[in-house]
Amino acid sequence: MALDKIKVLGIHSSPVKGGNVAHLLEHALNETAKMEGVETETVVLAGLNFSDCTQCNWCMRKQTPEQLCKIEDDISPILMKIRDCDVLVLASPVYFARLSGLMAFLIDRTRCFIFGKEKHLALKDKVGVALTVAWTRNGGIETTLESIHSAFLLHEMWTPSVHPAGAIFGVGAVSGQMNEDLSYKTGKLGVLEDRQALGAAVLLMKKAVQTAGMLKSLK
Ligand SMILES: Cc1cc2nc3c(=O)[nH]c(=O)nc-3n(C[C@H](O)[C@H](O)[C@H](O)COP(=O)(O)O)c2cc1C
Repeated sequence: MALDKIKVLGIHSSPVKGGNVAHLLEHALNETAKMEGVETETVVLAGLNFSDCTQCNWCMRKQTPEQLCKIEDDISPILMKIRDCDVLVLASPVYFARLSGLMAFLIDRTRCFIFGKEKHLALKDKVGVALTVAWTRNGGIETTLESIHSAFLLHEMWTPSVHPAGAIFGVGAVSGQMNEDLSYKTGKLGVLEDRQALGAAVLLMKKAVQTAGMLKSLK
């Protein structure tokens, strides 16, 4: 029996549209799209008009397949895409050692998948991948990845790790590249010089797709 395609949805939450996070996500998804049986899609949160979850609990009582959340704004179609994907890749810049505000708003709105009338824990058994870019190597990468992974766990999702690639807690990339004398380089896309992170992102995505395939075959 032929399995459906593995749908990979990447969402990035930097207000900088062509910035480091966008490039890390693009690199990861471009390589993933080369895998057989995979389709990818990218969503950019910057510039969208949306608000936070108000805990109105409408989703618990009135949710339908066509309307997942009472608030109808630019997040509404993205929630549909999240519901329908197999692998969800959340990519955020490190802001004050945590995820960006845009990503926090998005994650809060996924509460409708936890208690929704249509299906409780609707994201259960999907695969989640966390990608992040910080300016400095020790400036909050792991705390940012942890906040994204916590959201995956609350949804009962799975998240892969690839030990040899160093992608044990997701992928943490660095954009603040240094010269030999430890002064910072002036280029704006330092993430493209973080070859280890770019490579780790590709290996982690491969593992995520393999994991999604295994989970799908069990359904
Ligand atoms: C509001 C704000 C807070 C930031 N906080 C941190 C931080 O805590 N640690 C860090 O290493 N970099 C921090 N940065 C730097 C960004 O994480 C870094 O420049 C990243 O590459 C931005 O990605 P982008 O180019 O996709 O926007 C911060 C940047 C901004 C705008």
